[in-house]
Amino acid sequence: MSNGMFITFEGADGCGKTTQQMLAADYLESKGYEVLITREPGAKGLGEDIRKILLDYKGPVSERCESLLFLADRAQHVDNMILPAIEKGQIVLCDRYTDSTVAYQGYGRQQNLERIKKLNDFATNLLKPDLTFVFNIDVETSMQRVGKEKDRMESEGKEFHNRVRNGYLEIAKQEPERIKVIDASMSIEEIHEEVKKVIDFYLNYGKHSQ
Ligand code: TYD
Repeated sequence: MSNGMFITFEGADGCGKTTQQMLAADYLESKGYEVLITREPGAKGLGEDIRKILLDYKGPVSERCESLLFLADRAQHVDNMILPAIEKGQIVLCDRYTDSTVAYQGYGRQQNLERIKKLNDFATNLLKPDLTFVFNIDVETSMQRVGKEKDRMESEGKEFHNRVRNGYLEIAKQEPERIKVIDASMSIEEIHEEVKKVIDFYLNYGKHSQ
């Protein structure tokens, strides 16, 4: 493999994306690809400290500060992990990326969407995923799956999470070539089959012909 690839997994808390990321990793490795499994916020090193602030800090956090912390984590992650892996020809599977900031801070917190997009461009140096899966699930089911132990973001109310969900669907409409919406109410195996189909298509033909 000389050409790396970058795939992101997105959706509400509790939508099952991490399970699908792991299954996709096994699948790709079984086909001989080298895979990097990673996540945001807080993949490694400095990012892990930023993650603690973002999810566990008990005091008030200003909304702009929250956005900038997610973006700071992303810049560090792109430069130190994602880009080097792609350059080595690996397939990077990342749990959450730019679309999370658009969905949560843009649609959820209702911050200016254009500004969030520009900040994402700055944080990523314009590195975009080749493919993105959005696992779509109703808010009641996702909140039940998260359970009682909630972090700072998960503790937001139903209206916030509804805006996040609709935000993801809106983003997917705007970029149908990159973003595939998957019905996350199906079984783990059924979802994995869908994911595999999309990945195989991309590996064979590239995203533009899909
Ligand atoms: P995490 O425990 O990783 O949740 P999950 O397993 O559902 O991905 O927590 C990440 C939380 O941070 C999640 O609620 C979404 C939120 N988030 C944002 O609000 N903006 C972002 O840019 C990112 C990357 C995550």
